[in-house]
Amino acid sequence: MTKSMVLFNSLLNINNWQEGEDSEKFRFILEDYFKTKVHLVNSGRSAIYCFLKALKIGEGDEVIIQAYTCNAVPNPIIWAGAKPVYVDIDPETLNAAIDDLASKISSKTKLIIIQHTFGRSAEMEKILELAKKWGIYVLEDCAHSLGALYKERRLGTFGDAAILSFGREKVISCLTGGALVVNNSKLEKEVSLFISSLPPFSRRQLIKEVLNFFSWRTIFRKIYFNKTGDKLIKFLYKFDFINVVTSKKELVGEKPFWYPASFPNALARLAISEFENLDKYNRQRNEVAYYYLKNIKNPDFSLLPAHDGIYLRVVALHKDAPEILAQARKRGFWFGNWYNCPIYPEAADKEKLGYEVGSCPNAEKAAMETIDLPNYLGISFEEAGKVVDFINNWGK
Ligand SMILES: Cc1ncc(COP(=O)(O)O)c(C=O)c1O
Repeated sequence: MTKSMVLFNSLLNINNWQEGEDSEKFRFILEDYFKTKVHLVNSGRSAIYCFLKALKIGEGDEVIIQAYTCNAVPNPIIWAGAKPVYVDIDPETLNAAIDDLASKISSKTKLIIIQHTFGRSAEMEKILELAKKWGIYVLEDCAHSLGALYKERRLGTFGDAAILSFGREKVISCLTGGALVVNNSKLEKEVSLFISSLPPFSRRQLIKEVLNFFSWRTIFRKIYFNKTGDKLIKFLYKFDFINVVTSKKELVGEKPFWYPASFPNALARLAISEFENLDKYNRQRNEVAYYYLKNIKNPDFSLLPAHDGIYLRVVALHKDAPEILAQARKRGFWFGNWYNCPIYPEAADKEKLGYEVGSCPNAEKAAMETIDLPNYLGISFEEAGKVVDFINNWGK
């Protein structure tokens, strides 16, 4: 059954949109996968928030995160009343630079959120060693890395807990959703208590998510490269007909009312069917990534060293990234721009999100140069070949 059909069938059951057996079933599947307790929520950012609240991390506390990230990571820290402390990245991996991380630990640090950027594992041994030395909790951010292994062990099983995201453009997607995987059994009681107090997911938000999904499947994809079409899409987002990934409030560090909430049961069947395809999806994306790594020869582009995780994105760095992205769009290529600025998106107010411009130079440089090569599900090698030609001929 197609994604649209799975979703459409679940939506027919109007009384079960918020709660029901399907989300319990999805939870059990994840518990079996991670061999520990898992709690479902309505997004990855909600999962981060719930973990902080459950641990009573707030006013006066610091939480370490990397600067090459999405606003959805610092925001829940700010909502909880704590302070995000930004760490620079290693330009070869786009993950936290360990030395900088070590230097940012203070007596106020309560938690390190460690991001496995685009599916590449962070250096877990070193991070766990630091955390143990200082008595700090570790939360793995697996929003990009579901299904990836590090030294034959599943990411998400190293930290005290891990968050997952099933939002748009993630490893698997059921429109919106997230989970908290709790590995440290001492924290389970508090987490469970906090999560059981969550309100149900807003029906209005659910409808807007569904509208967004079907609009992209039917119309938006076809008109995206057309100037008028693009204007229409932007207009619909601007006037709130459709859910944006980052709301206006989040751009300035405020919390929209729909976070956190429980996982919408209406999306659980879709989540389950997506999960059944997890390995297939990861294999497909990896094959396209290896194809790019093998065939891109233009020395002006810097492709990051290969890794054995998963490739949610394949990044090529180039000093003229904005120009290249504009030209690629004119040619009808689905390039991406995660993350073309530290604390994505560009419209996010860096100061309100606690980031001092200039403080993480590697993250800022990488962001200015970031180009995501297309590796959406279903891309053909013919299309990927055209991308390779476009890149190899750039600047000639
Ligand atoms: C690294 C990272 N962590 C967490 C999140 C939050 O996930 P969600 O969109 O489900 O709230 C995102 C969202 O894009 C992300 O990129």
